[in-house]
Amino acid sequence: MDYPEPFQLKVDPRHGRLLGSPSNYQKKLSDLAGIYRDSAAFDALAQTDGDRVVYAVQDYRPAFGDNELIFGTTWMAPGRVGDEFFMTRGHIHARADRPEIYHGQSGHGLMLMESPEGDTRTVEIWADVVCYVPPFWIHRSVNLGDQPLVMAFTYPVDAGQDYDVIARSNGMRSLIVDDGQGGWVERANPDWRPRTTNQIETIHATAHATVGA
Ligand SMILES: [Fe+2]
Repeated sequence: MDYPEPFQLKVDPRHGRLLGSPSNYQKKLSDLAGIYRDSAAFDALAQTDGDRVVYAVQDYRPAFGDNELIFGTTWMAPGRVGDEFFMTRGHIHARADRPEIYHGQSGHGLMLMESPEGDTRTVEIWADVVCYVPPFWIHRSVNLGDQPLVMAFTYPVDAGQDYDVIARSNGMRSLIVDDGQGGWVERANPDWRPRTTNQIETIHATAHATVGA
């Protein structure tokens, strides 16, 4: 049997690079139209900063089999749109029972999580904090600080991502906003639409999907 070769990659905790990684994926501010509640503030910022890279991902995706792990680093710029902190688009795993680990490298942020039924959780992340995103939780990273937020992540190679799950509910149930005193606060999103029983069952059913389906 040919076994995959062990190897190492080096994480640059300040710049969020995974040295030796073959892939580099970037999102500009203009790619994130529609995820922030204050669309006027977004449009104003996009006029001047639309081409600015606001997050970057470098990862390594093993190709040996379905039981492997993808790992990489994510770098997020600091900033706000209106009173909402910069954040990622967010997703649930296409196979929703696949978990993920995030490991803070530098900066200050949080993981905002939401169950299919609409329960929410927040886990604050600094350097050396490990956040476990259990199976079935929608997750989005938020940069709370004035410096870049850098995290390393690991998830099963067959997890996949469903990026539309948040848009279908008009956003996540909670907004993470500036509290006006140098901190953050979780506030209810008045536009949030609960998932139907059918939508929740569809998410649960992905856990039983067969490989390649
Ligand atoms: Fe994920």
